[in-house]
Amino acid sequence: MLRRLLFILLSIQSSAVSLTAPSDVLALQSIKSSINPISIPTWSCLFSWNFTSDPCSPSRIPSHFICGITCSSSSSRILSLVLDPAGYAGRLSPLISNLTFLTHLDLSDNSFTGPIPPSLSLLSNLQTLTLTSNSFTGPVPSSLSNLTSLQSLDLSRNSLTGPLPANMASMSALRTLDLSFNELSGSLPKLPPNLVQLALKGNSLTGTVSRSVFGRLNSLEVVELGDNGLSGRIGGWFFLLPSLQQVDLAKNSLTGVEVPKGGSSAVVAVDLGFNGIEGRLAAEWAGFRRLSALSLRHNRLKGGIPMEYGLKRPEPFKRLFLDGNFLKGTVPDGFLGSDSIWGSFGDNCLEGCPASSTLCLPRQKPVTVCRQVYGKRTRGLSD
Ligand SMILES: *[C@@H]1O[C@H](CO)[C@@H](O)[C@H](O)[C@H]1NC(C)=O
Ligand SMILES: *[C@@H]1O[C@H](CO)[C@@H](O)[C@H](O)[C@H]1NC(C)=O
Ligand SMILES: *[C@@H]1O[C@H](CO)[C@@H](O)[C@H](O)[C@H]1NC(C)=O
Repeated sequence: MLRRLLFILLSIQSSAVSLTAPSDVLALQSIKSSINPISIPTWSCLFSWNFTSDPCSPSRIPSHFICGITCSSSSSRILSLVLDPAGYAGRLSPLISNLTFLTHLDLSDNSFTGPIPPSLSLLSNLQTLTLTSNSFTGPVPSSLSNLTSLQSLDLSRNSLTGPLPANMASMSALRTLDLSFNELSGSLPKLPPNLVQLALKGNSLTGTVSRSVFGRLNSLEVVELGDNGLSGRIGGWFFLLPSLQQVDLAKNSLTGVEVPKGGSSAVVAVDLGFNGIEGRLAAEWAGFRRLSALSLRHNRLKGGIPMEYGLKRPEPFKRLFLDGNFLKGTVPDGFLGSDSIWGSFGDNCLEGCPASSTLCLPRQKPVTVCRQVYGKRTRGLSD
C-alpha cells in the first residue's frame, strides 16, 4: 500500500518536471557513464550532471546541470554540448548520436581516448564540431562527410591516423577545417568547396599540391600545410587563388615553386622554408603588392637576390628570410641599414653582407662550399 502511494507520488513528481526528451536524457547519461569517474572533479560541469533532476527543467535542483549543455526554448531537446576542460578521461559514447538537435559539440582540452564515433554523422544539424587537444585515435570517420550543415570541424591535436576522408568535398557548408597535429597520411583529397581556413599542419601527408584539389577553392584565405611530406612543384595558379592571404608550406619536401605575376593577389604571408626548392629566387615575389612576409629559408636557391626586392614596394617586406640557400652577389640597397625589416640573408654565398649586421647572421657559407656550387671561376667568389 505504502509502496503504491510512493510510486504514485514519484510518478506525479517526475511527470511534472520531465521535459527533456527521454532519448536525450539517456544519451547524456551514457556520455557521463563513459567517463572514468575519477577524472570528474567535484567542481566540474559533468559532476553537476545529477540525473535525479531533469536536465532542462527550469525547476531542477539548482546545483544540478550547472553547465555543459544548453536546451531548446521548449526545454525538450539538447542544442549544444560544450564541456569544460576538466581533464575528463574516457571514450565518447556512440549514443551521442541520439542528440539529434545538437548544433554545437565541443569537448576540447580533455583526455578522451578511443575512436571518434562514426555515428556522429547522424547529427545532421551540427554546425561546429570541436574535439581538439584530446587523445582520440583511429581514423577521421568518412561518415563525417555526411555532415552537410557543418561549418567548422576541429579535430586538431589528437592521435588520428589514416587518410583524410575521400568524400570531404560534399561538406558544402564547411568553412574551417583543422586537423593539424595528428598522424594523418596519404595525399590530399578533393576539399570542401567553400573552405576559408585549411589547417593540416604537423601530419604525414604526402603527394603534391595539385590544381584538382585546390583549383575551385575561391574562398580559401589561409592554408597551413607545414610540417608534412608534400613533394613536387607548386604551380603558379596556387598563389592566384582569389582569396588567398596566408600560406604555410614550410618543412615539406617541395622541389620547386612557380611564381606568377602577383598583380591583384591578396597574399600577405608566404612560408616555403625548409624544403628542397631549387632554381633562382623569383623577382616576381616583389610584384605581390600586399606581400609583407616571405620565407624561403633553407632551400637550394641559387643566383642573386633580385633588385626588385629592395625597391620601394607598395608594402615593403617586414619579414624576409632567405638564409640557408646558395644565393650570391650582393644584398639590394636599402636592406642592411634598415631597422624596419626582420629577417636573415645569412648562410648563403653573398658578398658585402658583414656579420656585424644582424640581417647577415649566421655568417656566409665557406668559400669552398660556394665554389663547389658555382665552380671556381664564378665572378664574385674570387677570394
Ligand atoms: C537512439 O536512437 C536509435 C535510432 O537512431 C534508437 O533505435 C535507439 O533506441 C535510441 N537509443 C536510446 C537510448 O534512446
Ligand atoms: C544527486 O542529487 C540527489 C538529490 O539532491 C542527492 O541525494 C545525491 O547525492 C546526488 N548524487 C550525487 C552523486 O551527488
Ligand atoms: C551518408 O549519407 C548517404 C546519403 O545521405 C547515405 O547513403 C550513407 O549511408 C551515409 N553514410 C554514413 C556513413 O552515414
